[in-house]
Amino acid sequence: MKKTTTRKTSPKRAASSSGIQAFVHASFVYTGEGIVEKEGRMLVPSDLSEIEDGAVVFDARKILWVGPTAELPKEFRSMKKTDLKNKSAVMPGLIDAHTHLVFAGSRAHEFARRCAGTTYKEIADEGGGILNTVKATREASVEALFEVALKRALIAYRHGVRTLECKSGYGLDHKTELKCLQVVKDLQEALPQMTFVSTYLGAHAIPVGVKKPQYIDEIIHKTLPEVKKKNLATFCDVFIDEGYFTYAEGERILRAAKKLGLGVKIHADELTETDSARLAAKLEASSADHLLKISDKGIQALAKSNTVAMMLPGTAFYLKANYAPARKLLDAGARVGIATDFNPGSCYSLNLPLMMNLSALYLSMNSAEIFAGVTYSAAASLGLQDRKGALLAGFDSDFVVLPYDRFEEMYYRMGW
Ligand code: NIG
Ligand code: FE
Repeated sequence: MKKTTTRKTSPKRAASSSGIQAFVHASFVYTGEGIVEKEGRMLVPSDLSEIEDGAVVFDARKILWVGPTAELPKEFRSMKKTDLKNKSAVMPGLIDAHTHLVFAGSRAHEFARRCAGTTYKEIADEGGGILNTVKATREASVEALFEVALKRALIAYRHGVRTLECKSGYGLDHKTELKCLQVVKDLQEALPQMTFVSTYLGAHAIPVGVKKPQYIDEIIHKTLPEVKKKNLATFCDVFIDEGYFTYAEGERILRAAKKLGLGVKIHADELTETDSARLAAKLEASSADHLLKISDKGIQALAKSNTVAMMLPGTAFYLKANYAPARKLLDAGARVGIATDFNPGSCYSLNLPLMMNLSALYLSMNSAEIFAGVTYSAAASLGLQDRKGALLAGFDSDFVVLPYDRFEEMYYRMGW
């Protein structure tokens, strides 16, 4: 299991100069180097590339050196050190690459009805579900939305999450969609210790009182160009499903987004099979998310592509649906990520380690696959794989010190 390859930079700055420090005697430093080398495909546990009794040297921006504590280079010996006494492991900061963080209101009453037997679709067809949250979100001030989103981001932080993708999609009109994306921008300013990535998901549902073609025109001709102009999102996402957007509508919206220079994502094959996983591969989407109903052809298409297949096992659990065929995707050679899908209807949880636990139990993923799911592959789904998701010299100083001596302890615990 142990791999002691070290990557070194030649540090030009003297160790005594400001800002350089180290964590030493980590029980294990999980670099994920093997995962990076294999670009997240066909992983075995040794790809965790752990270094026993390891050290990490870093400054405020970048990791400078990683290796066994005993081999700490001379130039770093005099710097400020924190001794982890071989009790704590160190790993890259977790990345939750699929959340619907910004919304107002509560759907606790709908949850109770669902538990009593009413289906998610029945509630949505009555005008509840997403549209219920839309009403509350339109009524909320930007300050109120910011306050609630900030609390949620801090909950994610306490679970080890350092990079958080946040989708809009509970405004469903020009003004409210921009308001929600602005909240994400404000979060980035308020919490520089985290990295926020915004996704415009105007095509999340069809707003009440608006005809679908008219709404799609608004998305393509009004909101998307404004989102781009104001630099309010990196990605555009579409919910392609029965009762939401069709394959053709999704393709039109996403091609318009790509033309503007945005990356694209799809809520794909979640409630019904719509061939949208294949569309994701065709459009070179950064990720295809959900995939509970993905076809074998969809699996093959994703495996051949760079599109990350994003598993959201908390959603299957919360909807009491069948889990996505993660093993088939992994065995076919796809890159697979794991995220919470935090949202008010189908997964009200910000606990990414819990999703890792579900991935071990119900998606039969091995330790390196789970690790990659919340580090390298999640970073790849956000276009950040060159600086986040691995603990290597040159990467961002973005890592977490676990209160456990081994990574596996993190997902062995359930919902802690
Ligand atoms: O990711 N799939 C679509 N959207 C959300 C659910 C949204 C809601 O119920 O509010 C999801 O599961
Ligand atoms: Fe989602």
